[in-house]
Amino acid sequence: VATILAVGIATLDLIQEVDHYPAEDEECRALALRRRRGGNATNTLEVLARLGHSCRWAGNLGDDPDSALVSQELRALGIDLSAVCCHPGAQLPLSTIWLNRTTGSRTIVHYRDLPEYGHQEFACLNLSDLDWIHFEGRAPDQLGPMLERASSCLPGRISLEVEKPRPGIEALFGLADRLLFSRHYAQARGYQAPDSFLETAAPSGKTCYLAWGEAGAWCRTAAGDIHHHPAPQVKAVDTLGAGDTFNAGVIHGTLAGWDERRTLEFAVRLAAEKCTRVGFAGLEALAGG
Ligand code: FRU
Repeated sequence: VATILAVGIATLDLIQEVDHYPAEDEECRALALRRRRGGNATNTLEVLARLGHSCRWAGNLGDDPDSALVSQELRALGIDLSAVCCHPGAQLPLSTIWLNRTTGSRTIVHYRDLPEYGHQEFACLNLSDLDWIHFEGRAPDQLGPMLERASSCLPGRISLEVEKPRPGIEALFGLADRLLFSRHYAQARGYQAPDSFLETAAPSGKTCYLAWGEAGAWCRTAAGDIHHHPAPQVKAVDTLGAGDTFNAGVIHGTLAGWDERRTLEFAVRLAAEKCTRVGFAGLEALAGG
């Protein structure tokens, strides 16, 4: 069991399940409606908590009823909220999501006016009991000082998720030990092939992972070897948070001391399992690898 801190967001996800992706100006009935907590960092922590780790979240909440709901849900999962910062008068970010029941694809419209978790808050946290720190790649101006502090306190034990292009984020790659890239980021940088992204755009000398949906995932080791693991064929019913689950799998495997190939295989399998179910419940069963 490792003690893991994740820095990033929580949201309220308002999920409507539909039987097809609606066209603009169409009116259609949803098959189901769910309100649940989301957000990359807290999704990753939920999976890590289910895999048996001791988890702590550093992020911002408002003081609205949705923020209270999130705190309640995270506490129920055993996640430590002592590093959370509450902003009076602010509201929890909201994601409105269409989940296509036919394909499992999720379309997200995200609204937020809550500030990003800041480096000043992070500077006050006690990091001495941690085994790992995971960062969601959000505001680079805040992330820079946080990554600097984290990498000097916990050398070799820092992961950075790079899901979306953010101006200036590339300058921070050198401060993380595991870089977790998304297909969205690689494509936004102009790459259509995962291995060419890893060969040319990923920082050399770092272990980098790149998840690619139904094609599985790729890894490039610090020595420069590239590995691919295909995704098992599954009936996807809910892909919301599959990338966050993959990241949890990489952190779990790395902390278990597995090599990159075994870690990659595990993270792909964990993410595929997630797609077969709504939410993350039941992923506990994969904790042994
Ligand atoms: C899934 C997710 C959702 C959230 C959105 C935020 O990866 O974390 O739970 O609404 O992305 O970007």
